[in-house]
Amino acid sequence: MQTWIPYWLPGETAHASAVDLLFIGLLVSSALVLLLLFALLFRFAIHYRASNADADRDHRIRKSWHWEVSWTAATLVAFLALFVWGAQLYLNLQAPPADALPVYVVAQQWMWKVQHPGGQREINELHVPLGPTMRLLMSSQDVIHSFFIPAFRIKHDVVPGTTQSIWFRPRKPGVFHLFCAEYCGTDHSRMTGRIVVMEQPAFEQWLARQDVTGTLAAEGGRLYRSLGCGGCHGAGSTVRAPALDGLYGRPVPLSDGTVEIADERFIRDAILKPRDKIAAGYQPLMPSYQGKISEDELIRITAYIKSLAGEPGPPQ
Ligand code: CUA
Repeated sequence: MQTWIPYWLPGETAHASAVDLLFIGLLVSSALVLLLLFALLFRFAIHYRASNADADRDHRIRKSWHWEVSWTAATLVAFLALFVWGAQLYLNLQAPPADALPVYVVAQQWMWKVQHPGGQREINELHVPLGPTMRLLMSSQDVIHSFFIPAFRIKHDVVPGTTQSIWFRPRKPGVFHLFCAEYCGTDHSRMTGRIVVMEQPAFEQWLARQDVTGTLAAEGGRLYRSLGCGGCHGAGSTVRAPALDGLYGRPVPLSDGTVEIADERFIRDAILKPRDKIAAGYQPLMPSYQGKISEDELIRITAYIKSLAGEPGPPQ
């Protein structure tokens, strides 16, 4: 698995060539500027050397506004174009296709914990099927880590306190390196793993072979009950709290007049920082669960709330 350029691994995802093209674009434009700079440097150094009596040294200070303005404008336009190009690619990688399959990743010193919606768990390994788009929902249990698969042209910081999302579609089966690309403590360099891309039938078999206690949503449901969430959010409760049936993916009007979509990030914030975003028409009564539940548990509860998406929602 080598290309003709040493150290240049082929990109193995659908978006990899777009990233490569941007990288080459940056490299070429920087190289052109560097080349021009050095060419002028050498030309002037040689032409105006002390021993060259032929050099015209009159008009030492002669400013050309034409050169000044066009050079500044040209670089501005060139680098703005590069910025727009890169930003487009970046934003594209932030917005997953609607049919992407979710996989949950929790980073902690010093390992990657992966959970599939079916409840299958892995450590420092991620098995994915060839074909569908995968969407990773990543959170950190402690410090900032960075999820980096060079062959997939994917690198994304995993910041504690938020859910980060990134997506990719593998192009061929194989085993690929996973690295942590943010210094996160003593064993940062060992925080590595493998991404295993399998053909769909092999992947199904792999899923079936794993020990599973229940789907993430089912485990989340157990947690929901043991934490007593239903006491307020349940149908017959005396405390008036927003119903969670049919919540996921819906727009939620907030008390400050804004409207937010109830996605993974919204649900996470609502559990950890309930006072920050109050649903319109409700009192800020919910206690924060910050520090009381782990990232793993958050993933399960979120999966449970997601699974209620198909339920009939409250009257609008
Ligand atoms: Cu985790 Cu470096």
